[in-house]
Amino acid sequence: MHPHLFFLSALSFYLFSTGSYVTRAQTSLIADTGVKLSFIQKYVVMSNGIVQVSLQNPEGHITGIQYKGIDNLLEVRKNESSRGYWDVVWSPPGNTRTEGTLESITGTSCKVIKETQDQVEVSFSRTWDFSLKGKSVPLRIDKRYILLRGSSGFYTYAIFEHVNGWPSFDLEATRVAFKLSSEKFHYMAMSDDDRQRDMPLLDDRLPNRSQTLDYPEAVLLVDPVEAKFKGQVDDKYQFTLELKDLGVHGWICMDPMVGFWQITPSNEFRVGGPIKQELTSHVGPTTLSMFSSAHYGGNDMVIKIDQGESWKKVLGPIFIYLNSVSDGINPNTLWNDAKHQMSIEVDRWPYDFPASADFQSARQRGTIRGRLRVQDRFISSYSYISADGAYVGLAPPGDVGSWQRETKKYQFWTKANKEGYFTIKNIIAGEYNLYAWVPGFIGDYKNPKIINITPGVDINMDDLVYEPPRSGPTLWEIGFPDRTAAEFYIPDPKPKYANKFLLQAPNRFRQYGLWERYAELYPHQDLVYTIGESNYKKDFFFAHVLREIRKGIYKRTTWTIKFHLNRVNESDTYMLQLALASAHQSDLLVCINDQNKDPLFSSGFIGADNAIARHGIHGFYWLFSIRIPGSQLYSGGVNSIYLTQASNRTHFQGVMYDYIRLEGPWTSIVNKIS
Ligand SMILES: *[C@@H]1O[C@H](CO)[C@@H](O)[C@H](O)[C@H]1NC(C)=O
Ligand SMILES: *[C@@H]1O[C@H](CO)[C@@H](O)[C@H](O)[C@H]1NC(C)=O
Ligand SMILES: *[C@@H]1O[C@H](CO)[C@@H](O)[C@H](O)[C@H]1NC(C)=O
Ligand SMILES: *[C@@H]1O[C@H](CO)[C@@H](O)[C@H](O)[C@H]1NC(C)=O
Repeated sequence: MHPHLFFLSALSFYLFSTGSYVTRAQTSLIADTGVKLSFIQKYVVMSNGIVQVSLQNPEGHITGIQYKGIDNLLEVRKNESSRGYWDVVWSPPGNTRTEGTLESITGTSCKVIKETQDQVEVSFSRTWDFSLKGKSVPLRIDKRYILLRGSSGFYTYAIFEHVNGWPSFDLEATRVAFKLSSEKFHYMAMSDDDRQRDMPLLDDRLPNRSQTLDYPEAVLLVDPVEAKFKGQVDDKYQFTLELKDLGVHGWICMDPMVGFWQITPSNEFRVGGPIKQELTSHVGPTTLSMFSSAHYGGNDMVIKIDQGESWKKVLGPIFIYLNSVSDGINPNTLWNDAKHQMSIEVDRWPYDFPASADFQSARQRGTIRGRLRVQDRFISSYSYISADGAYVGLAPPGDVGSWQRETKKYQFWTKANKEGYFTIKNIIAGEYNLYAWVPGFIGDYKNPKIINITPGVDINMDDLVYEPPRSGPTLWEIGFPDRTAAEFYIPDPKPKYANKFLLQAPNRFRQYGLWERYAELYPHQDLVYTIGESNYKKDFFFAHVLREIRKGIYKRTTWTIKFHLNRVNESDTYMLQLALASAHQSDLLVCINDQNKDPLFSSGFIGADNAIARHGIHGFYWLFSIRIPGSQLYSGGVNSIYLTQASNRTHFQGVMYDYIRLEGPWTSIVNKIS
C-alpha cells in the first residue's frame, strides 16, 4: 500500500527507541528521497532527512521532533499530548472575566492532504455536535501540519469554524504551545535587547524554591537550582512583545548547539492590531504562538461568537524553525540566523503551499497604496505635514479606532515611510476600512470609504489627509503622543525585585513591582507637575497608581498640573486633550481649580488591560477631549488641573497617560493672526 513501507519500518526502529543513533549516512539517504510520510502504530511520522516530526494519530498532538541527532527536542517527561499542541481557552457566553476552560484541541480524524516528495500535508480534525454541549468548545477545527523538502522545520496552521446554530461561546485564547526538553534548552531569546539569556528552571518556581509575589505568575527565586538566579523575579509577562516585533522567539540548546524557533510570518491572523502585546517564550522551557488572547486588553479582546454566527478563520501557518551550528559557542549566531529565516518567511508570505482552500493564495489577494498627510494648522499653518512613520492598516469596517478591539477577522498593517507613503500587499479579499495613527499626533484616522478588496486589485488611495483633534493653539503639553507612557519617569525597581537584564532602556518598565514605587517616592503628597518648571521625563511618574496605606487598603491619588495663564477669555472654551496609554478598572476625574467641586469630567469606570500588573507600558488607547469653560480658569494667575484616579479596590487599578495638552480658544489665535 505504502511505497516506502520497508524503509519506514526501519525508520520506526530508531524513532521509537530511546537512544539517538541516526547516522549521517541515514540522514542523507532520507534527504535524497524527499519528504516521507508514514503511519507507525498510533503515530504519523513526517520526515525529510533534516527533521522528523511525530504526531499522535488521530489526535494530532506533536509527540516528537528529531533533529541533529537529538532524539526529541520536546519534553519526553511530559505526557505525549502535552509536548506540542493547539489549545483554546473558552467559556459559556457572557463571561465578564478573561478566564475559562483550557481545552486541548484533540483531533478525531486524520487525513493525508498531500503527499509528494516535495511536500507532505496532514490534517487532524475534529467536529462538534450537541452531545458535546458544555463539554467541548463548539468549533470545527482542522489542524494542519506541513513538511517541505529541504526545510529545516515544519509549518502548522488551523481552520476554526463555528456553524450558525451551534451555541454561543466566548473564546479567551487560541494558541500553539511547545514544551521543550528541559535538559537541553536553557537559553531563551526573543529580542535584540537584553532579553536573551540563560533562564531559570521550571523547578525553581516550586513553592519550596520560590516565593509567590502579588500574583501567581510572578515569583521571587529564593533557592533556585543554579545559584546565579537567586534573588531574581521570574514572570512570563516580562517577556512580552508587541505583535509588530513578535516575529521570532525561542530557545537554544548549547550542546549540541541547536535552536528551536517559532516564526510568525504575518500578523494578519492575530487580533488587536500591530501594538497588541503578547506572550512569547518563558520558563518551562515553553514557547507559545498566541493567535488571540485577553492579554493587555481584557474582556474586550475575548472573541464572542453568537449562536447565529457563521465564523471561519485560518490561524497561521506559523513556521517551527530549527537551526544549528557545528562549532558554535555564541548563541547569537543562532538568534541572528533565526531572524534571517524570519525575513525569508516574511518574503515568502503568503505561502504558496498550504493546501486548504481557506488559505488565500497571493493571486486571490489585493493591494492598497497611498499617501497619508496630516493637517494641523497649529503646527504648520499652511502646508500639510508628512505622516512620517504612520501606522496604516486595513481592518474590518467599524468605528474610528475599532481595530484595537477587533478579534474575529483579519487585519493588515504597515508603517508609512518618512513622506507618509504606504503600500499594503497581500490583503485577503473582503471589505475593510482604512485606519491609521501617526506618532506625534493624537487620535485615530479612519477613511470613510468601505474598501472592497478583490483578487488582484491594486487600489491607489492617492492623498489622504488626517486632521487630528484640535480646537486651538497649544498652551502647554506633557509627553509625546505615541500611545505609550515610555517617555515618562520610570523608577528603578526595589533592589529586592531588580532583574539585571531589565535595568537598561528599553526594558526598564518591565521590572516587577514598579507600582509600589509611587508611594515610596510620594509618601504623603501626590505628584505635582508645574508647567514651565517640571520635566516630564523626570517628574511625571509613568503610571497613575494608588497608594497603599495599610495592607490591602488603597488610597485614591490626585495629581496636580499647575500652569499660569496670562489672559483668560471667560466667555470662551479651552480644551484639555487627555490621551491615555492604558486604563485598568479606573475612574479618572478631572477638576479645575477646586478639588471639592463636582468634577468637570469623569471617564466612568473604564479599562481592564491590566498593563500595570503585567509590566506593560500601554494597553488600549483612549482619547478624551474635555471642554473647560474659560469662566473656571484664573486670568493672570496660577491654575490647577486635578487628575484623580478614584477606583481604589486593588493595587493594579490605575491609568497611564500617553499625552496631555491644553488648547486655548480658537479665537485667541484668530485674533493674533488678524
Ligand atoms: C495523557 O493525557 C491524556 C489526555 O489528557 C490522558 O487521557 C492520559 O491518561 C494521559 N496519559 C498519561 C500517561 O498520563
Ligand atoms: C520541593 O518540592 C518538590 C515537590 O513538591 C520535591 O519533589 C522536591 O524534592 C523539593 N525540593 C527541595 C529542595 O526541597
Ligand atoms: C476609596 O474609594 C471609595 C469610593 O470611591 C471612597 O469613598 C474612599 O474614600 C476611598 N478610600 C481611600 C482611602 O481613598
Ligand atoms: C472671547 O470669546 C468670545 C466667544 O468665543 C469671542 O466672541 C470673543 O471675541 C473673545 N474675546 C477675545 C478678546 O478674544
